[in-house]
Amino acid sequence: MGIVLGLDVGTSGTKAIAMDAAGKLLASALVEYPLHSPKPGWAEQDPADWRRAAFAALAALAAKIDAKAVRALGLTGQMHGSVFLDDKQNVIRPALLWCDQRTAKQCEAITETVGADRLIAMVSNPALTGFTAPKILWLRDNEPDACTRVQKVLLPKDYIRWVLTGEFATDVADASGTLLFDVKNRRWHTELMGLLDINPEWMPPAFEGPEVTGQLSRDAAQKTGLPAGIPVVAGGGDQAAGGVGCGIVRTGVISASLGTSGVVFAFADTVSTDPQGRVHTFCHAVPGKWHVMGVMLSAGGSLQWFRNMLCQSERAVSEQTGADTYEYITASAARIPAGCEGLLFLPYLSGERTPHKDPYAKGAFIGLSLRHTKAHMARAVLEGVAFGMRDSLEIIREMGVAISEVRASGGGARSALWRQILADTGRAPMVTINVDEGPSYGAAILASVAAGLHKTVENACDAIIRETARLAPDETASAVYDRWFAEYQAAYRALAPGFRRAAELIG
Ligand code: XUL
Repeated sequence: MGIVLGLDVGTSGTKAIAMDAAGKLLASALVEYPLHSPKPGWAEQDPADWRRAAFAALAALAAKIDAKAVRALGLTGQMHGSVFLDDKQNVIRPALLWCDQRTAKQCEAITETVGADRLIAMVSNPALTGFTAPKILWLRDNEPDACTRVQKVLLPKDYIRWVLTGEFATDVADASGTLLFDVKNRRWHTELMGLLDINPEWMPPAFEGPEVTGQLSRDAAQKTGLPAGIPVVAGGGDQAAGGVGCGIVRTGVISASLGTSGVVFAFADTVSTDPQGRVHTFCHAVPGKWHVMGVMLSAGGSLQWFRNMLCQSERAVSEQTGADTYEYITASAARIPAGCEGLLFLPYLSGERTPHKDPYAKGAFIGLSLRHTKAHMARAVLEGVAFGMRDSLEIIREMGVAISEVRASGGGARSALWRQILADTGRAPMVTINVDEGPSYGAAILASVAAGLHKTVENACDAIIRETARLAPDETASAVYDRWFAEYQAAYRALAPGFRRAAELIG
């Protein structure tokens, strides 16, 4: 029996999974690590933590399976992060992550140097604070000594690829999120790198998702208990791999994932770009295909904040009963009518990408009155995040990308209430599928194609993924949400100038 592995270098931890050719999950292992925020708006991690976690997760996995039967390993991970290496492959400074907001000035500089329209024409996306190119410019502007030592700039999972195989490589989906990649032609954009004075040799060669980029080294084999020489597959950034893991490999089927971030992910047969750059256009991990996606920075993250800050009593009860605190929170929210009797929540706790591209945006409860309870606030958080997801859906619809069903994934999608709110606000059926292992599962599917267990990524998804439940939109609730969605959009427009002034006041 052939086994394939997927390894996801995520933001809260690194997860390894093993599956067979039929997609049956055989084992998984997760090793967590911290995220550091040394200054407001900064988000960093130590690549040494990823390295330790990757070895530990793979070793734990190898101990649970017949390691000799492993045919290939696929990699995935948080996108956009920057690992700066010197000429001896030492990590120069902690990696700046996808949710880091320090690069607003560098984004403005890139847009000014290249021109907003020309930038989108070159790399299909605008300059956004989380992307890699502005991080490189930040290093040059703020830590010039460190910058002179840079020899390689790697994305998080590609640093782990180098650790496991000794090879420098990336995949076209993850490369798309650097802002230095010609998404249309699936290769590095050397002309843009020239304009920004970024050395093209810093970037590793880019491969299609199921291509083999190297073999597990002897050293890595010793540390993990896996056989040396296993092919290590290009894989994909976590969104593209997550898309493959949900079967988003054909037109019309899209996914809505509620992790820390919230992502609406649509398959695209051809490159299609929003002229305003409100959604991202990236290469897919399916060879020769693309995807369009809207990214909210605090989706599940908003509910997590609400739980951590305002639900101490629920947490105390769940410690005693063993039930999940989120179950108490969503049960209370379910008793409140759609529209929350006029309470709105803006979920911009870490600034926002889609649709506002605004690092200064902030969260807000709007419309509080004496009538409102904590349960109203809980529901307002669920609805506010759903409105944010609808923003992405509307832009994707405007671009002419077909939407026939939305597959729900990620931790937040475990809540039937939240899925129903998403169906109602988005006016689209919300489907659940038989697997929800996230990006690591997609990386394993890509590995299964490389190993010859399936002919194509599409074949693999057809063989493995099937629908298990479907929630249809409720017309009455949808009509209520249509009205409040307009207010939600108006609220950001009214508050945005104040968010910017507040950022200046805070300094
Ligand atoms: C995608 C993005 C996030 C990270 C987090 O553009 O920034 O989803 O990949 O995992």
